[in-house]
Amino acid sequence: MPPAVAAKARVAGSGGWLTGLPGLVAELSREWGVTVGRAFPDATEAFVAEAVTADGTPAVLKLLVPRAGGHAGHEIAVLRLTAGSGCATLLRHDEARHALLLERLGPSLADLGLPLERRLEILCDAAARVWRPVPAPVALPTGAAKAEWLIGFIERRWADLGRPCAAATVRHAVRAAERRIAAHGDDRSVLVHGDVHQWNALRAGDGFKLVDPDGLRAEPEYDLGVLMREDPVELVAGDPRDRARWLARRTGLDATAIWEWGVVERVSTGLVLAAIDVQPLARQMLGAADAISRDATSGP
Ligand SMILES: Nc1ncnc2c1ncn2[C@@H]1O[C@H](COP(=O)(O)OP(=O)(O)O)[C@@H](O)[C@H]1O
Ligand SMILES: [Mg+2]
Repeated sequence: MPPAVAAKARVAGSGGWLTGLPGLVAELSREWGVTVGRAFPDATEAFVAEAVTADGTPAVLKLLVPRAGGHAGHEIAVLRLTAGSGCATLLRHDEARHALLLERLGPSLADLGLPLERRLEILCDAAARVWRPVPAPVALPTGAAKAEWLIGFIERRWADLGRPCAAATVRHAVRAAERRIAAHGDDRSVLVHGDVHQWNALRAGDGFKLVDPDGLRAEPEYDLGVLMREDPVELVAGDPRDRARWLARRTGLDATAIWEWGVVERVSTGLVLAAIDVQPLARQMLGAADAISRDATSGP
């Protein structure tokens, strides 16, 4: 069990899940007829391990740490809707036990060490394959609800962590989130992955598929905002707006919406990483957020 997953379970008050995990794995391997092997050491929010089905098909067993918010249900909903195109195929699932059996994919985009421009192309195209209408009965949070949640999260976490970025940066992120809430419309909303980054894009044949979706009913620009938050050092080495314009051109989407989701995601993820002391990345992400908000307040 990766230490980060064990820590997450304890913080979420799921110590019981942790002690019951060997039993749960044994139970599911019996019911689903799979042999479970080596665990993936880079998981953070779930126990993820190699598995092989009865007919010898390589698979992956993912058992999410139970916590408030319906995460397993949302992940299952995305994988059912995408049905193997854009995301990993879901072979079996049991929402009550937060359990998924997935098609086994290859190494991640991060393992391949490709230059940033090529990674952005791959991630952008992978995200675009996920975007599709969400049938009304499917229960996924809206982009507006997520932005609302992010505002509360940013304000609380920033104070708890002893203000690791400027107060003006937090205000800038909150205003950007408020603009995305105002812009939300069900007519423009599609299925959105919600966490498109290079560790969640895995080799599939001669292309890539995404794993680990958060699942939202939101404007597609949300996924590109996540691409704006990653690689923060490279982002601020040039004009950060160039990346937003490039993503907008490639997808035909709105550069302002991409930019604003990026502003929100950079601060919220910077704070997530600061809380678990993922350095120097947390400092770099919040440093980029500070530089961008200073630039915005001093005008173009
Ligand atoms: N379908 C899969 N095929 C191969 N490896 C996978 C698959 N799903 C997950 N993994 C591996 O397990 C890791 C963690 O899984 P992920 O679903 O991203 O969980 P977390 O929420 O902990 O990030 C991935 O980064 C990848 O290395
Ligand atoms: Mg992941």
